[in-house]
Amino acid sequence: MPRDLDPRFDAEIDRRGTHCMKWDMMEAIYGVPASDGLAMWVADMDFEPPAVVTDALRAMTSHNVYGYFGNDGPYRDAIRWWMAERHGWEVDPGAIFTTHGLVNGTALCVDTWTAPGDGVVLFTPVYHAFAKVIRGNGRRVVECELAYEDGRYTPDWDAWDAVIAREGATMAILCSPHNPNGRVWTREELEGFAALAERHGLLLVSDEIHHDLVYPGETHVPMSKVMDPARLVMMTAPTKTFNIAGAHTGNVIVEDEGLRAQFGARMLGLGLSPNSFGLHMTTAAYSPEGAAWVDDLMRYLDGNRRLFDEAVDAIPGLRSVPMQATYLAWVDFSGTGMDRAEFTRRVEGDARIAVNHGPTFGKGGDSFLRFNMATPRANVETAVARLAEAFGDLQ
Ligand SMILES: Cc1ncc(COP(=O)(O)O)c(C=O)c1O
Repeated sequence: MPRDLDPRFDAEIDRRGTHCMKWDMMEAIYGVPASDGLAMWVADMDFEPPAVVTDALRAMTSHNVYGYFGNDGPYRDAIRWWMAERHGWEVDPGAIFTTHGLVNGTALCVDTWTAPGDGVVLFTPVYHAFAKVIRGNGRRVVECELAYEDGRYTPDWDAWDAVIAREGATMAILCSPHNPNGRVWTREELEGFAALAERHGLLLVSDEIHHDLVYPGETHVPMSKVMDPARLVMMTAPTKTFNIAGAHTGNVIVEDEGLRAQFGARMLGLGLSPNSFGLHMTTAAYSPEGAAWVDDLMRYLDGNRRLFDEAVDAIPGLRSVPMQATYLAWVDFSGTGMDRAEFTRRVEGDARIAVNHGPTFGKGGDSFLRFNMATPRANVETAVARLAEAFGDLQ
């Protein structure tokens, strides 16, 4: 067995008929048949979580009483341990707020620290829920488009200075590592984002939900190690890392005492507190057993990534942007010369693969589709074979 194959991740788990958004909604949303379609859209994985998480849930169900949770000390301590051990980041357990996931965390940040009508900067193309939450709260999205050249995304400081000066903004939301372009920002780039926030008086919210899903040879630097905490709010979650998104549990980590008091007051005012399932799963996952599983997961995903990129790049006109992190492949179809409707029809109609559409990620996304390759290797093989066939006339 090649080193990166692993029966835990190769196992075909049928998720159909389980209220699974990715597999059960694809026919209704994309017209991709449930019978032999491939679900490569929603960002969760087709894998079981590590045994340590399953054991924690089994302990809950065998006790079989589901009352209110008390004493979150071990939970906070597990988060503190994970951030120090995996990211070299010392977190004060008192700085941690637990939200109903990070879309909710983003909404709470927007609600706490901006006013209706304020501009909130996004570095596009970027995770689509940010814009939904900003607009849903009656704030304006200020789009700062990343520069894209030769398969690589980079900041465009001068252009962004002009956009922010023109549009006005009070907050920026950074995605680090970045979804969907897969970038792990360098320390210099992060310093650039910090300086941009400083120049324009922005509070920077750094969504680091993908921070554990980094490929060998890449190093994620937490924004907290780069930037003055007075302008910074960190967000992390165990949900992408351990495939427990249904637990809807995330952490907004606020190091500055003044900002912390403001956020705490807003959480209190909204009567928010977490569910016990998420807390038990997180405490179990952020452990040495969880860490060993993540290392194995990344070895497997690295194999998927290589297979996917190589096969897609071999199709004339298609280009997969090299992933430094995440399991989300961002594929550029501009080289096909086709319009968006045509290349999307070929992917969804001919290849029967449900994917995320580029324009939902904001400016710069038009010629792209996003493919989730956190699925057994056999599905990735099927996907690339179907793509080669669907675009076979370009060979
Ligand atoms: C950058 C980013 N933030 C947040 C989320 C979702 O977070 P949650 O499920 O905790 O609301 C995602 C999911 O894809 C994401 O990519």
